[in-house]
Amino acid sequence: MKKSLTFIFLLISILVTRSLSSSSSSSDDDDETYKKNDIGVGVNWGTMTSHQLPPENVVEMMKENGFKKVKLFEAEKRIMEALIGSGIEVMVAIPNFMLLDMSRDSSYADYWVDVNVTKYAYPGGVDIKYVAVGNEPFLKAYNATYLQITLPALKNVQDALNRAGLGHQIKATVPLNADIYESPESNPVPSAGDFRPGIKDQTIQIIQYLYANDAPFTVNIYPFLSLYGNRYFPMDFAFFDGSKNPVKDGSYVYTNVFDANYDTLVASLRKAGYPEMKIIVGEIGWPTDGDINANIKNAKRFMQGVINHVLSSKGTPVRTGPLEIYLFSLLDENKKSVAPGSFETHWGIFEYDGKPKYELDISGSKKDKGLAPVVGVQYMNRRWCVLNPKVKDLEGIAKEIDYACSLSDCTSLGYGSSCNHLSLAGNASYAFNMYYQLQAQNAWDCEFSGLAIVTSEDPSVGECHFPVMIADVKCYNGNHRRIDQYPKGLKFLETHKLWILLYPTETAGLVRVRLAYALP
Ligand SMILES: *[C@@H]1O[C@H](CO)[C@@H](O)[C@H](O)[C@H]1NC(C)=O
Ligand SMILES: *[C@@H]1O[C@H](CO)[C@@H](O)[C@H](O)[C@H]1NC(C)=O
Ligand SMILES: *[C@@H]1O[C@H](CO)[C@@H](O)[C@H](O)[C@H]1NC(C)=O
Repeated sequence: MKKSLTFIFLLISILVTRSLSSSSSSSDDDDETYKKNDIGVGVNWGTMTSHQLPPENVVEMMKENGFKKVKLFEAEKRIMEALIGSGIEVMVAIPNFMLLDMSRDSSYADYWVDVNVTKYAYPGGVDIKYVAVGNEPFLKAYNATYLQITLPALKNVQDALNRAGLGHQIKATVPLNADIYESPESNPVPSAGDFRPGIKDQTIQIIQYLYANDAPFTVNIYPFLSLYGNRYFPMDFAFFDGSKNPVKDGSYVYTNVFDANYDTLVASLRKAGYPEMKIIVGEIGWPTDGDINANIKNAKRFMQGVINHVLSSKGTPVRTGPLEIYLFSLLDENKKSVAPGSFETHWGIFEYDGKPKYELDISGSKKDKGLAPVVGVQYMNRRWCVLNPKVKDLEGIAKEIDYACSLSDCTSLGYGSSCNHLSLAGNASYAFNMYYQLQAQNAWDCEFSGLAIVTSEDPSVGECHFPVMIADVKCYNGNHRRIDQYPKGLKFLETHKLWILLYPTETAGLVRVRLAYALP
């Protein structure tokens, strides 16, 4: 027993050195060709997930697939570090909850810029181009919470960037939702657009500031939500491949709602006195589950449509020329709030585990080679928690399903979703499994008052996928963490699907406790 522990300890020490030394040597050949291509599509990378993929592997995947730009919702250290030297252009955001402090205290803005921007903005570091101040702070649903503080926060952040000597290369902007402008119901054409009363003055003040600073206006546009919010909305008009119901606006003809929406903003900007204001589309996307119109087929149709639209450099009827967009989004996020709708956890082009959901030609190469997945993903054991078929008395099952779903993501069970066709037993199995996977597959996570049982047979049926969660080793005291590459020649722990890195200071006794926990 003692001998084998020593062996594990040694093995683990080797892993430490191996993984540290292998991290800095990767071929740069690909990176060179990569930078030459200027037109590019950006993507949002949100991290509201229970299980994070290794950021380094996600960055590799983005490069592999030709994403040129990324938009982050926070300056997470591991992600910023993974982007060093990647050549990917970055918009990094300050979350809404920081806006109040940011608006009141310029030294707080200095500090944030110092640790989250200046630290990475050296040649060969992270190519930061924008700082997003807040996320949709004027959204109707936020009432007026951020109305008075957004501009002061924006100013403080840009001033801090200027003081850091970065003001020329890095611009602060504010991503706003398309609900800040509208056309009157009596004349629903783009040219009649204007900013919504209630936020109009503050929005125009922000525009004035951005314009004076040579910074872009950033807007999030969601044709999917137009369709979701209005059952009379012509389906065809949400997509880019021709519409049976074009909208005429003077001499302009609109065949898709994106162009119409974008030009409504252009009209609003013109009325405010800024007809030439630069516009970035900060978010645009289509979810794949959680609603009758949220599926793979529609998502692929929409996403390829918007990418082709960007690559064509045609622009919109009023604003011709290249568009700048960030797709929403890279990966599914199972911890997003579903208050806006069950589709919220399904915006990813890629699944939670980095597998592409559908094919997409991002660079316009027309080569149908499919998207590359994130490589090196480690899963937990292939086992699922389902309703025990031997149980006859199903009393109390509804309560157990509710419990499981309240602590996990059951949005795929809803109307029009991928698992909506399941029986009551199927519903229970799905719910139990989602909970079980989220709770690290412990035996005690598959109880449900004796209704549940663990199985090694995949219960997935058709499009209804029962996932196995990616492996995640909880870090109790910072003495160990997961590593994601298996060093050559060491097959010892492979069967466990988990490789654990311990720092050499770890004692053998603690090693045993931790391994017993981590390697079931
Ligand atoms: C840097 O940004 C991250 C995410 O926005 C935040 O959590 C962190 O507190 C920031 N650091 C400082 C020192 O403000
Ligand atoms: C906004 O106001 C509505 C109605 O008064 C309220 O239900 C909602 O909770 C408020 N939202 C926020 C974010 O304050
Ligand atoms: C399964 O769950 C979904 C979502 O809660 C519900 O709409 C459906 O009616 C359930 N099916 C059965 C057979 O109970």
